[in-house]
Amino acid sequence: MRQTLTEIYDTRVAAGTLRPDPGQHAVLPLLEDLRAWLEANPTRRVGLFAGLFARPVAPPKGLYLWGGVGRGKSMLMDLFTEATDIAQKRRVHFHAFMQEIHRGMHAARQTGVEDPLTPVAETVIRDTRLLAFDEMQITDITDAMLVGRLFEKLIAGGTVIVTTSNRPPEDLYRNGLNRVLFLPFIAHLRDRMHVVELESPTDFRQHRLAGAQVYFHPVGASHGELQRIWQDLTGGAPGTPLRLSVNGRETVLPQFSTGVGRASFWELCGRPLGPADHLAIAQACRVLILEDIPQLGSTNYNEAKRFVTLIDALYEAKVRLICSAADVPERLYVEGEGSFEFERTASRLREMQGAGWGL
Ligand SMILES: Nc1ncnc2c1ncn2[C@@H]1O[C@H](COP(=O)(O)OP(=O)(O)OP(=O)(O)O)[C@@H](O)[C@H]1O
Ligand SMILES: [Mg+2]
Repeated sequence: MRQTLTEIYDTRVAAGTLRPDPGQHAVLPLLEDLRAWLEANPTRRVGLFAGLFARPVAPPKGLYLWGGVGRGKSMLMDLFTEATDIAQKRRVHFHAFMQEIHRGMHAARQTGVEDPLTPVAETVIRDTRLLAFDEMQITDITDAMLVGRLFEKLIAGGTVIVTTSNRPPEDLYRNGLNRVLFLPFIAHLRDRMHVVELESPTDFRQHRLAGAQVYFHPVGASHGELQRIWQDLTGGAPGTPLRLSVNGRETVLPQFSTGVGRASFWELCGRPLGPADHLAIAQACRVLILEDIPQLGSTNYNEAKRFVTLIDALYEAKVRLICSAADVPERLYVEGEGSFEFERTASRLREMQGAGWGL
C-alpha cells in the first residue's frame, strides 16, 4: 500500500531510526504534493500528437529548502526522491551536476552551436522530470551566471527542481564579484520555487556524533569503527566519488554522501594536491572520515606538509574530522623538518576531537 511521506517518516520515528522533529514534519506535505503531481505526470508527454491534442501540463513550483547544517535537508530530499515512483528522477550533488553541465557545454562548443547551454539543458529536460540536487552553493562568477540561465531553461522545459542550501536565496553568492548580475536570478528563483526554511533546533549530525570517539589509533583495528560511523551518518549509502572543480582542474574526493566525505590519508596527502584542493574538500564536507594516517617524519616530509594544509583547511571550515592514525597527534611527527610547526597541527587535531567542535 502506498504510504504518504508523512506516514513513511512516522514509521521511521516509530522504529527509532528517526527522532520526531516538527520542523521536518512541516515540510513533508509540500514534498508530498510534489510527489503526487510527479507520479500523475511522470513525463512531459511530448509524443507524436502531443502538439495537436495535449498541451503539456504546467508543472508546479519546485522547492528550495534551506537551513542550518545537520537539520535534515538531505535526509528529507532522499526520502522524497526515493519514494517518488517515477523513472525520470535524478538525485545529484550540486558540484557534480555543475561539472557535468560544464563538460556538456565544452562538447557542445566543439559543434559550433551559438549557445552551448541550449543542447545541454535540452538533454537534461528530456531525461529528467525531477531533478533533486543537494547543497547548492555558488562561489564563482561563471557558475553564478550559468545557474540562473540553466534554472530558467529547466523550469521552462518542465523539469521540477528540488534543491537544498544552507542559505536563503538572498545570501547566495553573497559578496561575490559582479553580484549585481546575479540579482535577477534570485528574483526568478523566488518567483518559480517555493522557498522554505527548515526550522529545526537540532543539528542531528552533531547529535549523532556527540560524545562519540572520533580519533582512533593505532590504525589496524579501527577500520570497522570508521565503517560503523560512516554507516550511521550516511544511512549505509555506498557513497560516490565527488568531483570538485579547482582552478579549472578536477579534484576527486573518493567517497561522498550527504555531506560526509571519506578518504584515506594517501588519497588526500600522498598525491600532489595543493592548498586549493584541500580548501575545496573542506568546503564540500561537513564531516571527513580520514583513514590510515601513518607515522610521519623526514622520509615523508611532503605528505606531512600536505597533511598540515589539509588539517588547517578542515579546521578553518569547522569540518568534523573522524580519523584513524598510527599514534596520538603529538607523536605523529616528532622528528624532521617542520616538526615544530606540526605542534600546531597536533593541537588542532586535539581541539577537533572536542564534543562541541564544529558547532
Ligand atoms: N529526525 C532525525 N532523526 C535522527 N537523525 C536525523 C534526523 N534528521 C536527520 N538526521 C540525520 O542527521 C544527519 C544530518 O542530516 P542531513 O545530512 O540530512 O542534514 P542537512 O540539513 O542536509 O545538513 P547540511 O546542511 O550539512 O547538508 C544525517 O546523518 C541524518 O541521517
Ligand atoms: Mg545536506
